Amino acid sequence: MNVLKRFQSVKQFIKTHNINDVTKRSTHHVISIDIDGEHLKFPHVWLRDNCQCEQCFHTSARSRIIDYSNFNIDSKPKAVVKGANSVQITWDDGHTSNFKLDWLKLRSFTAESQNKYTDFIYRPKRTSWHGKEFLKICGIHDYNKIVQSDEALYEWLYDVSVYGVALIQNTPNKENAIDNIIARVGFSKQTHYGVKFTVQNVANTSNVAYLSSNLQMHTDLPYYEYCPGVNMLHCLVQTKSEGGENLLSDCHYTAQYMKENYPEEYEILTNIEVEWSDIGVEDGNEFFKLYRSPVICLDSNKEVTRINCSIPQRGNHFPGLLNVVVPWYKAHKLFFDLNQEFAAKFKTKEGDILVFDNIRLLHGRNKYEDKPNNTRKLIGGYVDWDEIYSRLRCLKVKLFPNSGIL
Ligand code: OGA
Ligand code: ZN
Ligand code: ZN
Repeated sequence: MNVLKRFQSVKQFIKTHNINDVTKRSTHHVISIDIDGEHLKFPHVWLRDNCQCEQCFHTSARSRIIDYSNFNIDSKPKAVVKGANSVQITWDDGHTSNFKLDWLKLRSFTAESQNKYTDFIYRPKRTSWHGKEFLKICGIHDYNKIVQSDEALYEWLYDVSVYGVALIQNTPNKENAIDNIIARVGFSKQTHYGVKFTVQNVANTSNVAYLSSNLQMHTDLPYYEYCPGVNMLHCLVQTKSEGGENLLSDCHYTAQYMKENYPEEYEILTNIEVEWSDIGVEDGNEFFKLYRSPVICLDSNKEVTRINCSIPQRGNHFPGLLNVVVPWYKAHKLFFDLNQEFAAKFKTKEGDILVFDNIRLLHGRNKYEDKPNNTRKLIGGYVDWDEIYSRLRCLKVKLFPNSGIL
């Protein structure tokens, strides 16, 4: 969401919560500091809270250690002395704070500065896409380069965060090849299907993905509250005959399309919780997972945060009122059909790792033949978004040492 929109929603919040008086008074409690020709305003309380001296901030832990039980939210500056590169503030209780001007500028409260910080440091802005643009938006990356080079690692993770999908090629044909990629990011996300999982045709399976039939478009493991963020599927063996293609659709595109063209159905899918479920045994371990959540999850800015969708893993208990059941099914069917219409079709080859955002895209697989001389085998693994964004930020600090991020 762009910052101006975010500012609008903050204004709306202030209006609806009738806290205008409080916010009006607060605008006086600021210091104006001229930095590079701009008059930048910083609230007293924020400056005092973010004092960087050794009493207030632990350098090696990079953490605030201010004694909050004695913290005065009404601290006032007694003196403000600006130097060439820094500003010194003496507070009414005698405490002194020093701030570098560059440091303050990066943290300033203007829309432009907040925008820059959000896109450069917090999370890259996403670009949504229709399936017909897939070949254009799906970045191709090289296994060895990602393992060896920070730039290549950064570029791959950046693509996954912006487009929600990227392809890694030239992966060694080994069951544990994906481990090196996951280790470059951080840690894998373990689930009841294991640290990694094998996707191949299995009789008496614990999951319908482990069949050779058509696997309808879905997100993996919607029944986890802490659902895996990113899915990696390493193709070890691809079927030599027709079938086995993956379908991929960007639900951020679909959600926006529904919001504009089918607002009522969109509202239903963002509000009505349904129950996601997985019950069974894997590797001798029993599980009984349930989680209630809408199909389209939004944050307080009405931005999509997570998509849940899986025909087999939606439970048969509907945790809602009788009168919402039929409208929910209509909205859900529309969402499913639109995703199929907007999907890209792509067949991975041996050596490919298909990487995609599991809480943004729907993915599926066409049916394929499974015979002794024509099989298909993938190795899958998950990594959470926390690890990916963290690695991206660490790489930014390393690759852009003069950006003043820290
Ligand atoms: C899965 C899955 C895709 C495939 O295992 O959940 O989506 O290509 N597999 O087999
Ligand atoms: Zn201090
Ligand atoms: Zn899946």
